[in-house]
Amino acid sequence: MSALRALDDARPSLTVTDQLARVEAAGPAFARSRTLGAPLPAFASVDQVVADLQPSEPVFCMIPSELRKAAEGFKGLPARALYAVKCNPHPFVLDTLYQAGIRDFDVASLEEVRLIDALFGKAAGQFFNNPVKTREAIRVASRDFAMRFYTVDCEAEVEKILEEAGPGGDLIIAVRLATPSREARYALSTKFGAPPAEAAELLRLIDRRGVKTGISFHVGSQCLSPDAFGAALELAGKVAKKSGVPLSVLNVGGGFPAPYPGDDPAPLQRYIAEIIHGRGRLGLRSGCMLMCEPGRSLVATGGSVVAQVVVRRGQTIFLNDGVFGSLQELGHPKENRPVRIVRPDGPPASARTAAFKVFGPTCDSNDVLGAPFHLPDDVREGDWLEIGMMGAYSLSMRTRFNGFHLDQIVRIGD
Ligand SMILES: Cc1ncc(COP(=O)(O)O)c(C=O)c1O
Repeated sequence: MSALRALDDARPSLTVTDQLARVEAAGPAFARSRTLGAPLPAFASVDQVVADLQPSEPVFCMIPSELRKAAEGFKGLPARALYAVKCNPHPFVLDTLYQAGIRDFDVASLEEVRLIDALFGKAAGQFFNNPVKTREAIRVASRDFAMRFYTVDCEAEVEKILEEAGPGGDLIIAVRLATPSREARYALSTKFGAPPAEAAELLRLIDRRGVKTGISFHVGSQCLSPDAFGAALELAGKVAKKSGVPLSVLNVGGGFPAPYPGDDPAPLQRYIAEIIHGRGRLGLRSGCMLMCEPGRSLVATGGSVVAQVVVRRGQTIFLNDGVFGSLQELGHPKENRPVRIVRPDGPPASARTAAFKVFGPTCDSNDVLGAPFHLPDDVREGDWLEIGMMGAYSLSMRTRFNGFHLDQIVRIGD
């Protein structure tokens, strides 16, 4: 008898059911290892990335310690915190946040549903909060991924969900309420959200159909006014009262700001205090679950882009990354980020600074940043720039336009 055979014989024999259960239990782990891909190359610092790689293509640097710090901040809000996957869907980001305690995800498409399922299986909560979904997405999400939480802002979408994911039972359909945008850089209520009277009607309709319901809103992204949450909660309270329907969920959305230079937002605690206070005033039943869906504030500080100066033309520089790459948001004239020169072998950068107009590498004249970079006045071809706080809406927005595509991603530290 071979040694292998002897070992086999020594094992307790498994029934077919046990074996199947084992295979099924291992599924998510296999899928996860496939989806996570190879571990990211690790460096001690961004300077080390530049010194070792001397990269002529842009590099995205993940900073996991910052991701964990941001996740910690949301523990102060007694709410279920869903990470808005759209903001940065890289598996490294998702996994780091998951390990830091963010176990629920706001998903906007079937692709995002599949990604979260492949990474975490049933161990993650998924909430389909894009108010506009295809029938196919609803059908597949409910049939293959047991999706039971949806958001709507019109009657047609309610009917669609009932037809494709019904009947009710454990289904929850939240109504997205349009709220006034106060000091938010990116208003979202111009596109989504029912006006108050319509929202109350929708709540009644969903309730009549035997489905649990709730209210959600989004005060706009990079919202610099904590009061916007208080005002939106007050409006939500009025709508709930008008409808007479008991709410199962109150979702205060995203919009929590990142600390970009020049924005100087109030600390997260001010936003949390405003939400706790605002919710308290509504007198909701105790079973009503409070949720939030931060994106930007969880990941913005967790990523830097390293780009290289391709040409300097007077007070204009051309970089090898731009608005069709990972710098899409910097096309907005109010977007600023911390920027510094990394010049491992050259002389130290000049102490005098000047404003530079910045173009990206493509042939499109729209490939230009909205705000100037203030850089040492001797910036020159070959210099690398670290553009900090680029974790949000960067990797998820890049294109392959003109053949330019950032695809080198590394991690900084543990
Ligand atoms: C439904 C929904 N939830 C959450 C977010 C995340 O918002 P933010 O990144 O401003 O926190 C967005 C952003 O578009 C969204 O559409």
